[in-house]
Amino acid sequence: MTETAQPMDPYKGYQYLRDAMPVAKMDAEGPWQVSRHQDVHRVLRDHQTFSSEVSIRPIEERGQPTMLFSDPPVHQRLRKLVSVAFKPSHIERQATRIETRAQELIAALPKGTPVDLVTSLAAPLPVMVIAEMLGVEDGDMTTFKLWSDAIFSNIGEILFGTPSPEAQQAALEMDTYFLEQIAAIRRSPQAHLLGRLVETKTEEGHLSDEELLSFCRLLLIAGNETTTGLITASARIFHELPETFSSIKNQPELLPTFIEEALRFYSPFSATARRTTRDVTLGETLIPKGDLIIPLIASANRDERVFEAPDVFQIDRDPNPHLALGFGIHFCLGAHLARLEGKIATQVLTEHFDSVTLVEPDTAVMGGLGGPKTMSVIFN
Ligand code: HEM
Repeated sequence: MTETAQPMDPYKGYQYLRDAMPVAKMDAEGPWQVSRHQDVHRVLRDHQTFSSEVSIRPIEERGQPTMLFSDPPVHQRLRKLVSVAFKPSHIERQATRIETRAQELIAALPKGTPVDLVTSLAAPLPVMVIAEMLGVEDGDMTTFKLWSDAIFSNIGEILFGTPSPEAQQAALEMDTYFLEQIAAIRRSPQAHLLGRLVETKTEEGHLSDEELLSFCRLLLIAGNETTTGLITASARIFHELPETFSSIKNQPELLPTFIEEALRFYSPFSATARRTTRDVTLGETLIPKGDLIIPLIASANRDERVFEAPDVFQIDRDPNPHLALGFGIHFCLGAHLARLEGKIATQVLTEHFDSVTLVEPDTAVMGGLGGPKTMSVIFN
């Protein structure tokens, strides 16, 4: 008899952690994992005790810090520089463009035959949005996506260890590409986000090349795979609960609560990292100063202490105090954009098709950071 190993359902693992060891180390050298909503919320809220400067690599090696991995006052300065571009009023102006792209991608999807949802819709849509913000031309988009994948898949090593040669090569190529773009923008100013950043003057003068590059890298890391994860999560929900698809088809006004519930149910940014700045008691556990902490966002979002029937997908759940987009000073800068992309992709899918079926359903793949690398689906 042959046995196939089943990947562990991460949500069962999270439940065990929340009940038996809500603040715990998996091994003596490893980080603390925090799994209850109350504790994850506290870690994200208290940026003075739980620092985002998590990397132990020297700054010369890991480059200019991005806002995601910095504390005030550096964090406020960096966030302020780009926040205007992410204001809802600015983002709404991109809605028609995003919708046109989603229509084009979805119109090309075949009916009744397997298609990879990641490469056909879930990855190209967010890449296109960020690429346009950074002024990347259509022809460069595929390479741009490859760099993004290589850098994102290596994020742990980039912060804590030695990045893979592929990730280093991707980072180098991307930096070279953007340095050329920045030089071209200095000669001929552009209206997109990167163009405006190049023009921006702060008290310390214009932003340096290295500062500009770190913004480009951050948007790739923070905004691409996560939004891909939201679109694949929605498809999984449609497969598991086909009635959600017809509900949205008939009542598109359910889209906002559907997206929030999808973010809670299969949180694409499943975990983040912090480092303690002092000895602190979390739950009943004393954590020494300088230790690394992993707040398990995906676990917090299934905590039965906060959510009624947390393992049930409720399309109209309200209130829905999930932490899928973070909390506190690092709350997702792209939240409005992510929700808009999720809503548009879902709406256009429900307008075009009657159902989505996964060819190889496997709940475990939704537990990682971002989402699955491929997802074979059949539309009808
Ligand atoms: C469904 C998609 C998304 C999810 C689930 C998500 C989730 C998150 C989370 C949880 C954080 C906080 C991390 C922490 O506190 O350590 C965060 C921060 C951030 N996100 Fe998103 N994100 C998404 C899409 C986007 C998009 C589309 C963009 C921009 C194009 C973006 C840009 C950012 C930035 C710049 C930060 C850092 C904010 C700061 O440090 O102040 N995100 N995101």
